[in-house]
Amino acid sequence: MNTTNFTEVFRKTEALVASKPEDLLSGICKLLKQEVYHYDWVGFYILDREQNELVLGPYAGKPTQHTRIAIGKGICGQVAEKGQTMVVQDVTQVENYISCGLEVQSEIVVPVLKNGRFVAELDIDSHSPAPFTPDDSIFLARVCDLLVDCF
Ligand code: SME
Repeated sequence: MNTTNFTEVFRKTEALVASKPEDLLSGICKLLKQEVYHYDWVGFYILDREQNELVLGPYAGKPTQHTRIAIGKGICGQVAEKGQTMVVQDVTQVENYISCGLEVQSEIVVPVLKNGRFVAELDIDSHSPAPFTPDDSIFLARVCDLLVDCF
């Protein structure tokens, strides 16, 4: 159930950013996964400009074989192409989707934009059906804004 207090989790996120740990992105992934019940896999994909594809960055959750994703491919690749958040409440209903395991039911991917240009994205998989609300999108966009200098 989505009973998350996003204001509280955002405060914790800000505190972690302010403490400037070396492994900030990894720490953010762990924090979000731990604090939000319906976040089961949390990770960053970072744009590799030379290859023009996404590369897996820090993450929390099960290891994934999808360490590089072409622009336009899957939810992640589409967000990289459009620079806009995508929410998929039921992954069985979309065609351009790259599966990371049968337990995943839904996904949200939020871009990190630097001066309006796509540099990375925050990808979250959920084992819950249709768990995302506009609060997730707003919260995650604020988190991505906080992290823009990491990319
Ligand atoms: N499901 C993603 C692939 C990445 S995994 O979720 C870690 C997609 O369709 O792009």
